[in-house]
Amino acid sequence: MEKTGESYQQALRHVRAQEERAASEPATSRTPDKVVRSRTVADTAFSIAAVRAEEGRRPEGERLFVDPYADAFAAAGAHAAESTQRFLDLPFFRDGVRLRTKFIDDCVRDGMTAGLDQVVLLGAGFDARGLRMAEIEARRATVFEVDTPEQLARKRHVLTAAGVKLPARVVYVPFDFDTPDLESELAGALEVAGFRPGAGAMFVWEGVIGYVDDTAIDQSLRLMATAGGPRSRVAFTFADEAHLGTEDMAVRTKRCGFGSLESLAGDALWRKYLPGDPPPTAWVMKVGLAIV
Ligand SMILES: C[S@@+](CC[C@H](N)C(=O)[O-])C[C@H]1O[C@@H](n2cnc3c(N)ncnc32)[C@H](O)[C@@H]1O
Repeated sequence: MEKTGESYQQALRHVRAQEERAASEPATSRTPDKVVRSRTVADTAFSIAAVRAEEGRRPEGERLFVDPYADAFAAAGAHAAESTQRFLDLPFFRDGVRLRTKFIDDCVRDGMTAGLDQVVLLGAGFDARGLRMAEIEARRATVFEVDTPEQLARKRHVLTAAGVKLPARVVYVPFDFDTPDLESELAGALEVAGFRPGAGAMFVWEGVIGYVDDTAIDQSLRLMATAGGPRSRVAFTFADEAHLGTEDMAVRTKRCGFGSLESLAGDALWRKYLPGDPPPTAWVMKVGLAIV
């Protein structure tokens, strides 16, 4: 089968070339490299918001979800219009985001039904599940949103400007996954924010694996299994070929403390949620649900 994952890598390369150009500006006018990098990576969240905003404008029988907050986030990304468009133009980007959002929404609903009352969004970006999902509210679950301080400040700013007041059950946890001892440092940061270790949690790790290194992937998985404890689960996106070398995700999640993994490639996800046949590139994206 044709491998087309490279087109996504090309778009990322373009965004990263922009970072490098910015980093090569004279030191006097220059923003620190790390800040530029985290800002451009964070900018990809605008493309995702744009797709989620479009979804709400589809006819009722066609749409997979409604995200009433996505328009505000998409509008806030005007400064990153070129990179946003680059991602939107990729063959399976739009449908990939639509399908993964729907799959993860369903996982979160199942998690609430299973009695979990803590939700952790790792690399939360502009994910508005904490505000938009009635099942989370009905369960009175606390939602811990983990992302860089800059991204969370941006999120808060957009919501405030749109007149949205964050409920007390949505808690922002600023954290950088580049931290060497991610596992214990993030466990500590979550606990300080009110997370109850070992009480069970629904983790969401959507669109993040591609931006962190191998060590951070392992440490994040271990953190979820150990800090979350029994009954915890994680719904996530990944792409074996791009991120994981030769180690199968089922082996990896098991090694890091999970008991089971259900995974689906984009083509299977398409058949689950959309009519017609998936495009030939769909298989590249994968989603998973791992349970401790
Ligand atoms: C592609 S976005 C996905 C956002 C969200 N999960 C969604 O699907 O809407 C990736 C997110 O990961 C965050 N991220 C990337 N690298 C990070 C790091 N080192 N530490 C913390 N967050 C990071 C970015 O700021 C961004 O919000």
